Amino acid sequence: MQARLPTIDFSAAEPRWLPAHGPIGHLLNGASILLPYLEPYLIRVMKLARPDVAERAPQLLEDVDIFNQQEANHFKVHATYNEVLRARYPGLEVFEEEIKQDYRDFIANRSLGWNLAYCEGFECMGLVLAEFFLQEIDDWLEPADPAVAELWQWHLAEEFEHRAVAHDVLDALHPGWWHRVRVYVETQRHLFGFTQRVAEHFMALDRERGEVAVDAEIEARERVNQRRITRFFLPRMFRILLPFYSPHSRPMQEPVRRRLAQYEA
Ligand SMILES: [Fe+2]
Ligand SMILES: [Fe+2]
Repeated sequence: MQARLPTIDFSAAEPRWLPAHGPIGHLLNGASILLPYLEPYLIRVMKLARPDVAERAPQLLEDVDIFNQQEANHFKVHATYNEVLRARYPGLEVFEEEIKQDYRDFIANRSLGWNLAYCEGFECMGLVLAEFFLQEIDDWLEPADPAVAELWQWHLAEEFEHRAVAHDVLDALHPGWWHRVRVYVETQRHLFGFTQRVAEHFMALDRERGEVAVDAEIEARERVNQRRITRFFLPRMFRILLPFYSPHSRPMQEPVRRRLAQYEA
């Protein structure tokens, strides 16, 4: 594992960046708004856990440090892209204030075990999204905005690379299937609820401005795309609930390896 930092120029980036499937493009825009709050929180939790890791699983320390470096790079580059989103879509401050408070509250009022399980829940989801984005939807990315597509390709390739770190830390410090699964469900509800509401905000503004064409053909195509997402995500999300689930069981595939190698020259 290593941290890589690409230079991506967002000066001409288009927020409606995924014309093949607008709603998923905006859902990922919603995630992008979340990440400069979520990823510093992940780093904070890992730092809080570090003394226990040093004592009980010192073999994980190096991974934890690289995980933190990668997440720090991710949220900084997302923050640059988010400037583009803020310039085009007013009203995001309310969402940002809300999520900032949520993560403050989690650190202040929840146990380290709960926070570690939240981090693991997010990382499990990141792994599924990475597999989908990097291995399944080349046809959607063909007409996508190149800067925003690259942001997600780089980010998700590193998410895939560090897929097991949060899981291993949780397993070493706070093992237990019920604990993991209970917080996993809470985590998905929190993450998806937030990103969905931000995505709705983007789409409402697009509609208000008359920027989205809606006809029967587009609606039919979006239904097909939606089914494709559901078919991919549902069984994988379910597998995470199983007692012996481990991200170690997901081997790195060629598209991810290629993407990572691109930044290693
Ligand atoms: Fe990340
Ligand atoms: Fe991550």
